[in-house]
Amino acid sequence: MNYNKKTVKDIDVAGKKVLLRCDFNVPQDKATGAITDDKRIRAALPTIQYLLDQNAAVIACSHLGKPVATFDSYVKKQAEKGKDPASITEEEWKKSLAKLSLAPVAKRLSELLGREVIMAADVVGPDAQAKAAALKPGQVLLLENTRFEKGETKNDPALAKAMADMAEVYVSDAFGAVHRAHASTAGVAAYLPAVSGFLIQKELEIIGGALANPKRPLVAILGGSKVSSKIGVINNLLEIADTIIIGGGMTYTFLKAQGGSVGKSLLEADWLDYCNDMMKKAKEKGVKLLLPEDTICAKEFSADAEPILVDSMNIPDDCMGMDIGPKAIAAYADAVKDAGTVIWNGPMGVFEFPAFAKGTQAVAEALSNSNAITIIGGGDSAAAVQQLGYADKMTHISTGGGASLEFMEGKELPGVACLLDA
Ligand code: 3PG
Repeated sequence: MNYNKKTVKDIDVAGKKVLLRCDFNVPQDKATGAITDDKRIRAALPTIQYLLDQNAAVIACSHLGKPVATFDSYVKKQAEKGKDPASITEEEWKKSLAKLSLAPVAKRLSELLGREVIMAADVVGPDAQAKAAALKPGQVLLLENTRFEKGETKNDPALAKAMADMAEVYVSDAFGAVHRAHASTAGVAAYLPAVSGFLIQKELEIIGGALANPKRPLVAILGGSKVSSKIGVINNLLEIADTIIIGGGMTYTFLKAQGGSVGKSLLEADWLDYCNDMMKKAKEKGVKLLLPEDTICAKEFSADAEPILVDSMNIPDDCMGMDIGPKAIAAYADAVKDAGTVIWNGPMGVFEFPAFAKGTQAVAEALSNSNAITIIGGGDSAAAVQQLGYADKMTHISTGGGASLEFMEGKELPGVACLLDA
């Protein structure tokens, strides 16, 4: 994939209406709706500020959560969850949509920018159209949640065109959503000159650079619960990395494949052969593939469970693996010490429970002490690094969860492919 894309600096935006796709899919408190982490809003600020400095009129848009765009589909989904379809009302559906309004994002964005952010009541409906038409240079409008339109996730050309018709230039800065071929992330680029914002530019440069031309040795640390969700990444990184470190729940499928006893640990029996093939392939390619020599396990999955240190190949029948042990920590820290680049995706254990967070914490510590370029994939690993207090010690923490994973899998990203080549 070509990551060399035109940016907002390569196009004249002065005095123009710019449709800016952001990823404002921010976490919210379930009870109050308050935004619990505004990192993604902050990440969009440099591009918005640049556009305003250029005297552009900014029409920002984003999805938030996974709203069900029509009442019929809502009834269907609720029925699948076991609800009686007759008891489901339109009011209930509308309430579910209201919870995913971007209004709280408009408020937060306005506070961060120190200027008014006009909120539209719809995406391409009469309110959005009127407000976009009246928007003046230097003003910011935020459209409602793009997924309130049923054409969004289907990449409906009519919706994409309706969005494009409100503006003269399309800028995408929604790195977290570039793996989605939706109307607002990709479709719209068919109707407007399309360039990247500074966030996408940075993510492409840093992650793309590490994949295409890494400072070596390149060490990939892969954790998380399932082998099946990381196959694409393992396959791709086996072609690129010098060392692959395995941790987290997926370790136990690898250990079992190697003849170990894994007790009650997470196990994906269908992937045992795959794990063995990967171990073989790594050997053939001269890639070091490290599994933890020791494991911290517990009798139950709970924060209060007693941590028990065992040899990784002999996890007792009544125990489940919860974290990597001290020998593994030392080996992993050693592998990272002289790395040129480290890519980390997925925690080493159940870091949400302090008693089982030591492995993840030690890896974060090792990364913070190394001179390597350190890149943290979004989602769980980003959350772990933040929660454990190492965020500002890393070279780059991606704002994309699924997007950074698909990037590391070597897949084409539709939200990047649609932008003009530099
Ligand atoms: C994310 O949170 O990873 C992005 O905003 C994409 O969201 P999605 O998985 O709902 O498409």
